[in-house]
Amino acid sequence: MADEVVLTSTDGVLEIRLNRPEKKNALTRAMYETVSVALEQADTDSSIRVVLLTGTGDTFTSGNDIKDFQSRGTSTEPRSGSRFLPVISSVQKPLIAAVNGAAVGVGTTMLLHCDLIVAAHSARFVMPFTSLALIPEAASTLLVPRLLGHQRASALLLLGEPLDAVTALAWGLVNRVVEDRVLMETAREIGRRVAALPPEAVRLTKRLIRHGEPTVALRIKEEMGIFSERLASAEAQEAFAAFMEKRKPDFSR
Ligand code: COA
Repeated sequence: MADEVVLTSTDGVLEIRLNRPEKKNALTRAMYETVSVALEQADTDSSIRVVLLTGTGDTFTSGNDIKDFQSRGTSTEPRSGSRFLPVISSVQKPLIAAVNGAAVGVGTTMLLHCDLIVAAHSARFVMPFTSLALIPEAASTLLVPRLLGHQRASALLLLGEPLDAVTALAWGLVNRVVEDRVLMETAREIGRRVAALPPEAVRLTKRLIRHGEPTVALRIKEEMGIFSERLASAEAQEAFAAFMEKRKPDFSR
C-alpha cells in the first residue's frame, strides 16, 4: 500500500500530500496523526520555511473517514481530529493550500487555518456536517461567519450548500483560481516566494494576523465537546450507515 500521506521537502517548502485517492483522500486516524506530526516538526525545523498542503487525484479530501466516525461513535477515546485541529490552527509557519477538486468537511474547515489558498477550477467547498447529524468543527462556527457574514455562513454550515471555486474567490475564501493543470506549479511558486522571505519577519507577521485571538482555540474545544456527543447519537450513526451503504438516511425515527 502506498503511503497515505506523502511528505516531500524542496527549497524550504514542505509539501504534505494526502494520498488515498481510492477513497478520495478521506482522512483516517493514522493520516491525521502523520499530518499533525509533520506540521509540528516543520514548526521547529529551521530548514522548512513554509508548508504546502494538497491531495492526490481529483479530490483535495473528502473529509474525515466516515467508517472511522462510525466505529468511534461510542468510544471514549479522543476522536481522530482532536490532535490535528489544535495543531493546524496554531502552526507558526505559513500554510499554503493547493485545492485540487472537492474539499469536504474538514477539507474546507482546515483551509480556514491556511494563510494562502490556490484553488483549481475543479475545486468545490462543502461542509455537510448537519446532514451527517454533526456540527461544524475547526472553529468554523466562528471563522466562517466572520469571513463571509451570517447569511452566507448559514447557507454553508447549516444547509451545507457547496461553493464553487469562482464564488469562493469572490467571497474571499481563496486567493486565486487557476486551471487544474497549473495548480501545483502556481502553489509551489508562491511557496518559493514565501520561503525566500526573512523567516522571523514572516513568523511574526503570521502571528499578528492569526494568533492574537484566544477565541479560536476556545471555540475548537467547545465544538469538539458537542461533536463527540453528536458522534455517539443515533441520528449520526444512521447518517454514517446510510453513507457507507450508499442509501438515503432515514431520520424519521
Ligand atoms: N469516508 C469514507 N469513505 C469515503 C469518504 C469518506 N469521507 N468519501 C468517499 N469515500 C469512499 C466511497 O465510499 C467510495 O468507496 P468505494 O469505492 O469502496 O465504494 C470511494 O471513496 C469513492 O467515493 P465516491 O463517493 O464513489 O466518489 P465520487 O467521485 O462519486 O464523490 C465525493 C466524491 C468526495 C463528493 C463523495 O465521496 C463524498 O461526498 N464523500 C463523503 C464526504 C463527507 O460527507 N465527508 C464527511 C464530512 S464531515
